[in-house]
Amino acid sequence: MNNETERLQKRIANSGYTSRRKAETLITEGKVKVNGTVATELGTKVKSSDTIEVEGIKLEQEDKLYILFYKPAQVITSVSDDRGRKVVTDYFKQIKTRIYPVGRLDYDTSGLLLLTNDGEFTNLMTHPRYKIKKKYVVKLKGYLMREEVKGLEHGIQLEDGMTQPATVKVKNQDKDKNTTLVEITITEGRNRQVRRMFEHFGHQVTKLQRIEFGPLNLKGLNAGEGRVLTPHEVKVIRQLAEHGN
Ligand code: URA
Repeated sequence: MNNETERLQKRIANSGYTSRRKAETLITEGKVKVNGTVATELGTKVKSSDTIEVEGIKLEQEDKLYILFYKPAQVITSVSDDRGRKVVTDYFKQIKTRIYPVGRLDYDTSGLLLLTNDGEFTNLMTHPRYKIKKKYVVKLKGYLMREEVKGLEHGIQLEDGMTQPATVKVKNQDKDKNTTLVEITITEGRNRQVRRMFEHFGHQVTKLQRIEFGPLNLKGLNAGEGRVLTPHEVKVIRQLAEHGN
């Protein structure tokens, strides 16, 4: 998911310097340098932080872009889908730089998803060591018992290990419909984690929405809409990841 590197000829073409084919010729002719060293291999992979020089001219580094997106349900957190289903980047076709999702939300999950072209930022946000809080609204089948809340708060044993302590707030219990609406905040991002945490107690999740990611929320956005993060927001969330919540 994290396309941190790309082929040298693609990077040159994307910069607008020349076509990809001409870029390939320049590479094989030894006219391209990566970080000061001539690169003649066409498959050479480069990172966005690498310095590329073509015929003695330095290419501009790509501007970093950070987008907060309100992902609708029934959209895939990916940049493409071999079955032709809608993917999150379909909403940003007007953006010329390649952006990709930071972590993932399930197909049926809606809510806050970040997208960026900054691989280092993605690592920072998704690495288990950095504990960014993520808050979800969950609708589930059945009545959530006090003991179950306590279990979730304390940590439970899933097949891939114990969960970290969570914050759980029951918002509503509907006796007639036998459903519970609950908010849960977790600091991890394992696959289908929230669903599995409730399934552990036999509760099927019927609706799941991420409403907060660190200090960020969905205010002002409808499903399918996004906005660019301010430099200040990027700085704050970086600091949170590095120094804790
Ligand atoms: N937990 C889940 O189970 N699914 C998501 O999409 C996000 C968190």
